[in-house]
Amino acid sequence: MRLDKYLCELGKGTRSEVKDLIKKKKVSVDGSIITDAGYQVNDNSEVMLDGEKLMYEEFRYYMLNKPAGVVSATEDNIDKTVIDLLEGENTRGLFLVGRLDKDTEGLLLITNDGDMSHRLLSPKKHVDKCYYVELVNKIDKESIARLTEGVDIGDDELTLPAKVEAISPTSVYLTITEGRYHQVKRMMLAVDNEVKFLKRVSFGPLELDKNLKPGEYRRLDDDEILMLQIKC
Ligand code: URA
Repeated sequence: MRLDKYLCELGKGTRSEVKDLIKKKKVSVDGSIITDAGYQVNDNSEVMLDGEKLMYEEFRYYMLNKPAGVVSATEDNIDKTVIDLLEGENTRGLFLVGRLDKDTEGLLLITNDGDMSHRLLSPKKHVDKCYYVELVNKIDKESIARLTEGVDIGDDELTLPAKVEAISPTSVYLTITEGRYHQVKRMMLAVDNEVKFLKRVSFGPLELDKNLKPGEYRRLDDDEILMLQIKC
């Protein structure tokens, strides 16, 4: 890969900014100052910027506890986006693995790993997504049975079987394997109820880190990445 592209991908600046750094002799590769922006580097090259050794990573994975009021988009003209919350990170090439509604909180996975994202979102894979749901009305046994079997939310097909675990008369954990538009809200409307608060607590094998407050994020650790690669 070209040296300027490499530096851009590490978030060290725009193409013209990193070219400037290279011209100003701030970049060395394997111990030699390089002034050619097109110089070829590879995974084994030791690239230093201003004396700091740079580590190249092809893929980046972040777990965000999405707060309400922020949109699941990479860019938006009006609202703050989830990408805006990754302050100070190299956000080039990042995208969201699925979306949460503006008023939904919880686990959102953000990565530049397109293959993993496709696998996690593939309808054929039936990846579990668990939501903590607070409801306007009390939920009864019949509603739980209907949600468990599948309900008509106005699409061609009923929803696939879901798992429902009642926590209180007006709150449940709901685990679904699809990702239809406003699915949880529409499922609750289908059983004459309404979502008051919605938070995603897990996505496949990944659980929302309880230490993350709404708006906070962290990188996935190696075990979590491996788990996603193996199980999804
Ligand atoms: N279902 C919804 O209705 N909204 C979300 O944000 C996620 C799932």
